[in-house]
Amino acid sequence: MSNLEIHDIVNLDQYPIIDNQSAAYQALVENMAEQYARDSSCLLPNFILPKAVAAMASEASDVSVDSFRSDNLHNSYLEHDNADFPKDHPRRRLERTALNVVGCDQLYPDGGLVTLYKWEPLRRFMSDILGYPSLYRLADPMGAITINVMNEGDNHGWHYDESLFTISVMLQASEEGGEFEYVPGLRSPHHDDYETLGQVLDGTYDNSVKIPITPGALLLFGGHYLLHRVTNVKGAKTRFITTLCFKDKPGITNSPKVRELFYGRQEPIYTHDFVDR
Ligand SMILES: [Fe+2]
Repeated sequence: MSNLEIHDIVNLDQYPIIDNQSAAYQALVENMAEQYARDSSCLLPNFILPKAVAAMASEASDVSVDSFRSDNLHNSYLEHDNADFPKDHPRRRLERTALNVVGCDQLYPDGGLVTLYKWEPLRRFMSDILGYPSLYRLADPMGAITINVMNEGDNHGWHYDESLFTISVMLQASEEGGEFEYVPGLRSPHHDDYETLGQVLDGTYDNSVKIPITPGALLLFGGHYLLHRVTNVKGAKTRFITTLCFKDKPGITNSPKVRELFYGRQEPIYTHDFVDR
């Protein structure tokens, strides 16, 4: 249990995001929005202060005892299969994802992760970078905040996200592997480059990019159009990364299918006060 205040959590010297009228705030948003427009991702290193990272990693470690094991095969579009394509088509190729998931309902109500997620300036800052009039917390007691727990041999296979964007904070890196890797330029709203996708899945494509997401860094990532994966984790140290889920509309919840796949339960253990009941 941490009971951290927000100024103990967020690096407000480097990221002055409380006063959204200040010139420093507006310059920061402009810079981040430019990065996001150019790369479909932007990395904010040291966004969380070291002591808070340690407290959040400790919370993650405690609650991961009751995490759910998710181990499944999917194609890069997160389908089980797609029979509209020929058998040897890259769209039929299956990747494995094996990791444990902690749901929001398992987190401490006054812990660092929930405190950060409830903090209004974060929501406004993310909205301003992405250019939405507002963003809304996910109205899902399990999916609003999640932690991916990855131990030796775990990985997240190549895929495109369902969501247009995700917001992640690295809490603890593995000793080796567990790298966040992506390939830009393969997908747009009107085109899918299946030939290059095939090369990536074969391991013959050389121009992938690795994001140096170190503990405390926040990553804003447009994963719907960027093929990405997390490489095999190696070593005894568990990799913990949390996703803070925001949407451009209020009232969105996870489907029963997603609940089954990632949390292994339909009913939450606990409902935090930021979720409408
Ligand atoms: Fe993803």
